[in-house]
Amino acid sequence: MPYESVYKKKLDKIKQENRYREFITLSRVVGNLPYAIWHSIDDNFEKEVVVWCTNDYLGMSHHPKVVDAFKEGALTYGIGSGGTRNISGTVYPHIMLEKQVAELHGKEAGLLFSSGYAANEGTLSTLSYAFENLVIFSDEKNHASIIQGIRAGNAQKHVFPHNDITVLEHLLGLYPLDHPKLIVVTSVYSMHGDFAPLEKLCELSKKYNALLYVDEVHAVGLYGEHGGGLSEHLGVADQIDIIQGNFAKGYGVIGGYIAGTASLVDYVRSSASNFIFTTSMPPALAIATCTSIKYLMENNREREILWENVDRLKKLLEKTDIPYIKNDGHIVAVTINNALDCKNICQRLIREYGIYVQPINYPTVKRGEEMIRLTITPFHTKSMIYELIHALQEVIYKPSDATLKEAA
Ligand SMILES: Cc1ncc(COP(=O)(O)O)c(C=O)c1O
Repeated sequence: MPYESVYKKKLDKIKQENRYREFITLSRVVGNLPYAIWHSIDDNFEKEVVVWCTNDYLGMSHHPKVVDAFKEGALTYGIGSGGTRNISGTVYPHIMLEKQVAELHGKEAGLLFSSGYAANEGTLSTLSYAFENLVIFSDEKNHASIIQGIRAGNAQKHVFPHNDITVLEHLLGLYPLDHPKLIVVTSVYSMHGDFAPLEKLCELSKKYNALLYVDEVHAVGLYGEHGGGLSEHLGVADQIDIIQGNFAKGYGVIGGYIAGTASLVDYVRSSASNFIFTTSMPPALAIATCTSIKYLMENNREREILWENVDRLKKLLEKTDIPYIKNDGHIVAVTINNALDCKNICQRLIREYGIYVQPINYPTVKRGEEMIRLTITPFHTKSMIYELIHALQEVIYKPSDATLKEAA
């Protein structure tokens, strides 16, 4: 079997489709956000760029309190946890962090996973084995980890059109009231930045006696008075059965979790393969994460500046022809709808303007829906926003010199 040539052929196809993933290598130095040094490894140069696509939405990965907590944690407990949760790898900071996420969402219990991906995959696959004949109703725009979790289970599934409550209600009505059902949605959708209609979903889950599972990965830390996510902002957290989140975005660390009733959490703890058979989170990370969550529960400063900046960016975009998706959230998706154009635009932005955004293409979005996903932080200044808008106008509407030469 010519193994190598098979890989190469597959890669050629990805390259032909202009969706070959080129990683931008960065150094994000403490005290210098939102700048980073771009190390162009192939071309052997370095350049300072402004990052416009980070998920470290509030810059908490560099917050002095979080960094200090991590340092102290490492000096006290060392680096590795030393085991799986079941075999010598449960440390005191894990328990504190699980209590913290339960408190954040007003739930009885919380459970840590190595990532948000693992939390979705592990919980959803495990839930499908808890009930005989569980039926899962999943929004078509749910994240790959949700899709993977549902696939790994044995439940029947219906994928409903994005945010389409009418279709969802029709599907729910096909089953008797006492038939086990689970609705799975995302509070803030990661690419288009729009919201799930959480209030209506809570009503439906009650009316049809279904469990409601909400992925709050892009919302925790940012939305709600204490950073409890969109469910806190809308005052519906108590009506959601399972809230899933992560620590890698708003909280600037890494890891994922679920929060729910004590028995649900205990069941997942005792059954989810990717929880049981993996080494637990390093203690210092758990301490840093706890610090970040607590800080954002008690302080609004980062959130306030973030939302002022989001507002400013959107108001300026409105005055231009730059095509972007209107939503109430913090993610701004500039629609390009062509893989090659998207790649070229992003290359020009970083090389000519020192603005780093990543082209978003298939399979993250559908083919033909390629986009530039902008994320602003509390550290972006007014002049950076103006420079971004100016550069976007130039690269979207004016062809590059290279393109002109080619055409001549
Ligand atoms: C909606 C959503 N859920 C889950 C995840 C996975 O989270 P993590 O990066 O912590 O694995 C992501 C990742 O970006 C996401 O966008």
